[in-house]
Amino acid sequence: MDKNSMMDKARQLVENMDDLPTIPVVATQVLQLIEQPDVRIEDVADLMLTDQVMTARVMKMINSPVYKPEHEITSLKRALVYLGLRHIREVALTTSFINAFDEDKGAMELSAFWEHSFGVGMVSRIMAKKIGYQDLEKAYIAGIIHDLGEVFLSNFMREEFQAVLDSIKGKPIKLVDAEAQQLGTTHCEIGLCMAHKWNFPEAYCEVIAQHHTPSDATIDPILCAIVNLSDLFCSVRELNYGGREWVSFNLVEEEAWQILKNESPKLAEMDVERFCYDLDDAIPDVKELVSSIFTAKE
Ligand SMILES: [Fe+2]
Ligand SMILES: [Fe+2]
Repeated sequence: MDKNSMMDKARQLVENMDDLPTIPVVATQVLQLIEQPDVRIEDVADLMLTDQVMTARVMKMINSPVYKPEHEITSLKRALVYLGLRHIREVALTTSFINAFDEDKGAMELSAFWEHSFGVGMVSRIMAKKIGYQDLEKAYIAGIIHDLGEVFLSNFMREEFQAVLDSIKGKPIKLVDAEAQQLGTTHCEIGLCMAHKWNFPEAYCEVIAQHHTPSDATIDPILCAIVNLSDLFCSVRELNYGGREWVSFNLVEEEAWQILKNESPKLAEMDVERFCYDLDDAIPDVKELVSSIFTAKE
């Protein structure tokens, strides 16, 4: 299946979807406001308070063990001061993605999907730090959004997607390959079309499109390689929504590892086992974070 026809197919599917979820206006406004040099926390808080679901999620998230406040934080303003402006951007964006796709109507279980996504985000951030990638927050967000196309398949092509999932259960076939074969397109092309529609920055679009083929990346191959390895890592741990227990991989044999090694020579001396242990430490935190977010609406 060639890339162009998979892209055409994806475009067709996404264009014809009338009720494609939107990213809330408030999230976009928060992002714009935070870009301004003399922004005040009060203004951000006022703006965020206009979106109750976002406020509730931010409060849940901030009190989860991942952010580890000493005492429970009960006001949004205090939460924002605690987070700092950089993290507000991260939290506003991620809570919005979850809001856009919070209906459990698809073929896959959404909380498992978000566990995978946040897992890949957190592992990407740790990996980015280890290799000296300059923008840790970008790595985190890229990890969270890399598989957005899967939600489209699960929600809007429910039966076809279920058939794909069933067909690979217990078999050594990658989900992305099965999608290409059975649907004529994959979550990478579909995710890219969605990201274009939502005006995502180019580097994020590329991660969505190339996280399974990092050597084809041109804008930020390092970022694609980080997300690729984090994705593999989470897939062989418990953060794996596709049920691919059979998968095993050797980090150092991956093409993404080579890309990172060229960038950061100190990786060559790194103790890979130790590296994986460090990443493993993040897994319980991911689970707590996701469950705290998913109880935000109740
Ligand atoms: Fe993927
Ligand atoms: Fe993934």
